[in-house]
Amino acid sequence: MTQAKGTVHLGFEVGTGDPVAIPLRHLAVTGQTQEAGKTTTLEALIARSQLRAVTFITKRGEGSFKGSRRIAPYFREQTDWQFVASILEASRGEKLKFERAWIIRASKGARNLADVQANVQRALADPKTRGMSADVYLVLDAYLEVVVPQIASVKWSPTLDLAPGVNAVDLGELAIEMQHLVIRSTINWVLEREKGTVVVVPEAWKFIPQGRGTPVKLAAESFIRQGAALQNYLWLDSQDLGGIEKSILRSVPVWLLGVQREANEIKRTLDNIPASTAKPKAADIARLRLGEFYACWGEHAIKTYVQPSWLSDAEAKATATGKGSVSPQRAKEGPEMCELHQKLERELADAKRELEQSRKAGHSATEACARAEKRAAAADELRQVLGRFLPAGAGVGAAVDEDAIVARVLDRVPTGGGGPIQVTPPEKLRKDFQREESARIVAAAKELRPLQKKVLKLVEGVATNGEYISQRMISERLGRATGGQSWMDLGKATKELAALGFVAVAERQGVRRNLKAQIATDLEAYKATPDEVEAVYQSVLFEVATEAAA
Ligand SMILES: Nc1ncnc2c1ncn2[C@@H]1O[C@H](COP(=O)(O)OP(=O)(O)OP(=O)(O)O)[C@@H](O)[C@H]1O
Ligand SMILES: [Mg+2]
Repeated sequence: MTQAKGTVHLGFEVGTGDPVAIPLRHLAVTGQTQEAGKTTTLEALIARSQLRAVTFITKRGEGSFKGSRRIAPYFREQTDWQFVASILEASRGEKLKFERAWIIRASKGARNLADVQANVQRALADPKTRGMSADVYLVLDAYLEVVVPQIASVKWSPTLDLAPGVNAVDLGELAIEMQHLVIRSTINWVLEREKGTVVVVPEAWKFIPQGRGTPVKLAAESFIRQGAALQNYLWLDSQDLGGIEKSILRSVPVWLLGVQREANEIKRTLDNIPASTAKPKAADIARLRLGEFYACWGEHAIKTYVQPSWLSDAEAKATATGKGSVSPQRAKEGPEMCELHQKLERELADAKRELEQSRKAGHSATEACARAEKRAAAADELRQVLGRFLPAGAGVGAAVDEDAIVARVLDRVPTGGGGPIQVTPPEKLRKDFQREESARIVAAAKELRPLQKKVLKLVEGVATNGEYISQRMISERLGRATGGQSWMDLGKATKELAALGFVAVAERQGVRRNLKAQIATDLEAYKATPDEVEAVYQSVLFEVATEAAA
């Protein structure tokens, strides 16, 4: 298919079969995963434009851009504060407000991100770093914790070596944080040194999100402003335009809209297209078939059957005019590769990260709690001491504001751990002992032999009303012989359980439950509540129940 200069053949208009060529500019392609044909479209456009393209495989084994040449990832470290700020925004998922000063401080004098991390860690170790600034540094530290080791361990290419056709940088092994940094480096490289090169950003919603800076977004913004003059184009691939940065979308002149079925998604897509560009109606988008896209630029909105690179002109035209139908010849991307799946994976990873953070938060809450307990205990002791010195009784008590004294002294007790006042109140001692005793009981249960565990499990599970069950019955229930060594072993196991108090044995009657009663007795001295007894009981049952059935 011949094409006018500055344009590229896209396919054939649905219905008429007229060839459709679109301007070679920045472009966005969108549409439902696997049902639109976005990657197939981009592949075909790159092949026919004879531009070079670089794209990214963000997931191991990703199936798109099959014929592409794999190239080594190029990465250049930057440490200017704007860059560090974008890292922080990317990891926090929100726009920075007033944290600049701290970031500028963290970037000062750094030659690489490891230096930045060292600055951050130094700041964290400083007792003056508290509150918001500590938060900022913690988040930065967590991000750098991920990327600094990867920067050190991956073999980076010092240059971006692009061949004709599609070049794919495999980022599948890298953490998303690091993927951001590599895509950013690549975009900057193309902007600074290449001509006639397309950068395809997959999953644009992920890398160029609305409302906050990410390392990729920062680079994409300058690329989109300056790239076109050198025929360097940014092509965005995204199943939904909703989450993508609007300022970038506003600068995209060419739109390929594939099928979308969700009314809100369609609305978002249409809303994001600049008003100056012609657009189809929402209902028309919902009715598109695989390979059909509305090609929108300027005053055009042409329903086009996109010609894949592997389909002849005649066949593509026949499909567009309804005279033939193409069954996809390429293997479908594996389900694990489609964007939807990747999005879910990402959500899962996010959820995991959040869980980890809450765990950490929980941990520090526990610590804070312990510190508060210490302070409270200190206050109590202090009150007692004061009580001894200060005369009690009407009139005098009013003149001495005991609370105020306690408060003043408490002010001098550091809130951070390791203060000079060490108090071990009886209450705490009691709890400590109770904890130790509980642990001992659970450990004893854990150490039981498999047969003992089975017997205990059976007694707890069967003789629920506290009745006796005979050793013969236990033996039968466990599928054991009622004579010989097997019988003797069972007797021994029962006796040992009884010695621990985990079961009770009575002559001629058999065995009955005693576990909970025993735990209650063991913990009685520590004033354990019924709930605390129950908790230990459940832990023991858990130990016993997790014994693999043999
Ligand atoms: N124009 C077309 N004609 C015929 N088959 C097509 C066309 N476009 C895509 N297909 C087929 O449809 C399937 C999905 O295509 P593709 O991978 O391009 O979709 P996608 O929109 O990029 O999906 P995802 O969002 O999951 O990346 C593939 O099997 C592909 O060969
Ligand atoms: Mg795709």
